[in-house]
Amino acid sequence: MKIEIASGCGFCSGVKRAINLALTFAEKDKEVYTLGPLIHNLQVVQSLEEKGVKAVDSIDKIGQGTVIFRSHGVQPADFIKAKEKHLKIVDGTCPIVSRVQRLAEKLTEEGYSVVIVGDPNHPEVEGIVSRASNAIVVQNPDEVKRIKGKRLGIIAQTTQTLSNLRAVTSQAMENASEIKVYNTICKAVLRLQESSCKLAERVDILLVVGGVSSANTKRLFLLAKEINPNTYHIEGKGDMKLEWFAGISKIGLTAGTSTPSWVIDEVAKKVKSYECIVYRY
Ligand code: F3S
Repeated sequence: MKIEIASGCGFCSGVKRAINLALTFAEKDKEVYTLGPLIHNLQVVQSLEEKGVKAVDSIDKIGQGTVIFRSHGVQPADFIKAKEKHLKIVDGTCPIVSRVQRLAEKLTEEGYSVVIVGDPNHPEVEGIVSRASNAIVVQNPDEVKRIKGKRLGIIAQTTQTLSNLRAVTSQAMENASEIKVYNTICKAVLRLQESSCKLAERVDILLVVGGVSSANTKRLFLLAKEINPNTYHIEGKGDMKLEWFAGISKIGLTAGTSTPSWVIDEVAKKVKSYECIVYRY
């Protein structure tokens, strides 16, 4: 069996930065909270909890101490609430997400109807929506048809695919009189999508490792599955099934930007341990 790991998989710079901030303040401060799980990965959230970093779903649940805002960013109302409660604020918003938030504000000031290509229920998108007074979130080109505005400012959730952003923009051209588009998809995500899709082409089976609620892992899985139907989304080594590997010789591994390298290593190790079992029978 040959195992190949996609280049660029695992923690991105934004996730590393947020985790480093959490670890630093867990050592320095007594009560440390994150607003929502710091990243969409259960293993990491559990390990932070062991170090005293607690995830809460609302600022209202924090009495005092330090609050860390995660890489997805938060809504301005959360900043205001945290300040009013005199909490120490540590802003872990990824600089790439902050740029999208600023663009949403800028497009609003310029009078565009802001169109965000993304998942309306994702916290990153909710944070971006809160920066634009007239934002519309669309997930696909079909949803663009309901937009009434004639001057559209299009931006995307950082984990979107380029093909969806292109398709939405192209559909928007049908009715709008003016369109301004910013490609706000994170370059690390685009590179990872590309390397994972190329890997999907040349392996017999592709394992996509990452949290079930991780947007970029889910998108990676869907993209790769279109190329290689023998693609599986797993959270860790415990989700693999021995029968997937019968008669397989080339195995590809990729992972979302919130998957720790040790989880990827564990999966690779377990796959290797299957080799003798699969070939014995
Ligand atoms: Fe930031 Fe890109 Fe990671 S937007 S959080 S570096 S996936």
